Amino acid sequence: MEQLAVLGGPAARTSASPEWPIFDDLEKDALISVVSSGEWGRLGGDVTQKVEAEFAKLTTCKHALAVNSGQTALRLAILALNPPAGAEIICPAYTFIATAMAIVEANCVPVFADIERSSLCLDARSVESVITERTIAIMPVHLGGVPADMDALGAVAEKHGLAIIEDASHAHLSTWRNKQIGALGTIGCFSLQASKNLNCGEGGIITTNDTALYARLSALQNNGRIPGDPSRYRHAVLGGNYRMTEFQAAIVGCQLQRLDVQTVHRFENGKRLNAALSGIPGFAPLPDRDGETLNAYHLYCFSIDDTFFGVPRDTVLGALRAEGISCGPGYATLVYEHDAFTTGDFGPYSGASNGYTKSVEANRAKCPVSDLVAHRVGAWLPMTELMADASGIDEIIHALEKVSHLRNYLASTG
Ligand SMILES: Cc1ncc(COP(=O)(O)O)c(C=O)c1O
Repeated sequence: MEQLAVLGGPAARTSASPEWPIFDDLEKDALISVVSSGEWGRLGGDVTQKVEAEFAKLTTCKHALAVNSGQTALRLAILALNPPAGAEIICPAYTFIATAMAIVEANCVPVFADIERSSLCLDARSVESVITERTIAIMPVHLGGVPADMDALGAVAEKHGLAIIEDASHAHLSTWRNKQIGALGTIGCFSLQASKNLNCGEGGIITTNDTALYARLSALQNNGRIPGDPSRYRHAVLGGNYRMTEFQAAIVGCQLQRLDVQTVHRFENGKRLNAALSGIPGFAPLPDRDGETLNAYHLYCFSIDDTFFGVPRDTVLGALRAEGISCGPGYATLVYEHDAFTTGDFGPYSGASNGYTKSVEANRAKCPVSDLVAHRVGAWLPMTELMADASGIDEIIHALEKVSHLRNYLASTG
């Protein structure tokens, strides 16, 4: 076998990583059509409404509401539950910071529970162990597109009378037991930010089957206007302007036409990589799980055995990058380790500050799997790598095999 690229050998990957986003005249024409219509905001146009109807249908939900970001979607979902100041919401620490920041910005307390090693999503047993009389909701993240165990989490929520807000930012079209993610909890929240599987630059979309909650969500995103009220200047409740523009919606509409084919393509490539990784010493895919009927693979999560390699994870990742593979350690800093959370001072959100556990050690003691994945074994490929054709996937597999086989040389790459 040729030398490692990090030591001057030829890179395993010769093709370029697929580009993202994918677009053509469809998107350009849709944008021009909005420009020409003169209706650029959703109060005048109907593009956003049409996209919402389509997304609701795709996710098998009664309602979908477009907003200006994924974090806004999560925050409004919490506010729609009418939480008292300082209500507790259970979420993972192994996630993008927005999951927990949305909780704080709803003046609620984020309480961290651990993740399962098999899915990297919330572990229902850990969730149950941190429930108190102040808990109102569980916020699972379908990490990287992997559906969380909604049977187990649903059972805990039902037993304790809690809502479930699904953070489905990574999981457009993922399914759990053939049911759409976003339709399994009380409210589903999707990000449409530039890196996401469904993308309009910035944006979010909320799904629910609960018509009363939808009415509250709609008012919250539209300066407190009640849906269906023809008056522009009647404001029944507090709210803000979190509306999506017609430009963003036009792009979502086009990208929706591509989503299905792209999702199946990534899913098939993900399964190919799983089969390959199972046979490459030092790397391990997430295991097959009963119930995981479709993983949208926003990220391809896997683990690295640093004992096998005899070097830290980052050295292995550096060698893979030198081979031309785009990869990273995943969320290497847990939410409770970020400066924004270690002080426990959330400024004006005093409901969130009171009762927040700021001690990193105390949080770590509750989250040993998150700690292991974040700091030692976790790794991922971005979803663009899974958009590759068969030969691109062959090259990724070849790179993994090469780095595994030549592991004894890694120590000198330090
Ligand atoms: C898990 C998760 N939740 C929430 C968000 C927030 O989405 P947005 O960036 O659209 O606000 C993201 C975005 O990266 C995310 O990855």
